Amino acid sequence: MDQPTALHLALPVRRLFVGGNWKMNLDLARATELSEDVAVRCALLAERVDVAIYVPFPYLQAVQRALGHHAIFLGGQDLSAQREGAFTGQTSGAMLADLGCRSVLIGHSERRHGLGEESTHLCAKVSRAIESGLIPVLCVGETKAQRLGGSTRAILAEQLVGSLEGVSLASAKELVIAYEPVWAIGTGDTATKADVEDAHRAIREVLADLYSAPFAQATRVIYGGSVNAKNAAELFACEEVDGGLIGGASLKCDDFFAIVSAACS
Ligand code: PGA
Repeated sequence: MDQPTALHLALPVRRLFVGGNWKMNLDLARATELSEDVAVRCALLAERVDVAIYVPFPYLQAVQRALGHHAIFLGGQDLSAQREGAFTGQTSGAMLADLGCRSVLIGHSERRHGLGEESTHLCAKVSRAIESGLIPVLCVGETKAQRLGGSTRAILAEQLVGSLEGVSLASAKELVIAYEPVWAIGTGDTATKADVEDAHRAIREVLADLYSAPFAQATRVIYGGSVNAKNAAELFACEEVDGGLIGGASLKCDDFFAIVSAACS
């Protein structure tokens, strides 16, 4: 694997990262209103933690305008594995960057498991994101059956190695990993602190093997899966947890604000 840039190794402390994944929700009016509210309420907090919102493609431009000069990152929920050309219905990394996106989700379980996206395909997406100057948030996570079968660590390793195989990180701004156990997404069933810490440690061990120990230490690993205004503070207090990827609770400004506030405390 390519050695990561000095930039990765220079990050002294891992600044927390909170992303709101809107999925296929809202309409144009509500997306615009929510982004205006988030921009205003989270403006000061965004000086202390990174705050991103991952918006449905058709609303990116309206949300980008609504975010204005605020420091909230705009993000895409997916991108094409291709650079450009005859790929009907797909959206390239360059197009996302053109619209002001700074980050993109890759391999969310609703795509990995729901749409059958394979790790080999995700490698190309990570590469396209990096080429386009976007921060990839690579999602990994085990199913309930895999957890009960005791293969969580093996699955995380397989997904990480598979999705990063041959990816050059030399020009990457950063790579963020989101640990999202499939059974905790949208279910209200949050992983315990111990589960999360163990999974994040496993992820860092794989990154250390793939790249280097300093790279693994500098890489932000965030947790997603039924994070809400009540449990965020406890999860974010874990040493291994560098923030969260928030689905349902990111659709209500009060809840999202409370979660971002928890990341600042
Ligand atoms: P959830 O979704 O917070 O609704 O569980 C998290 C995610 O899918 O990223």
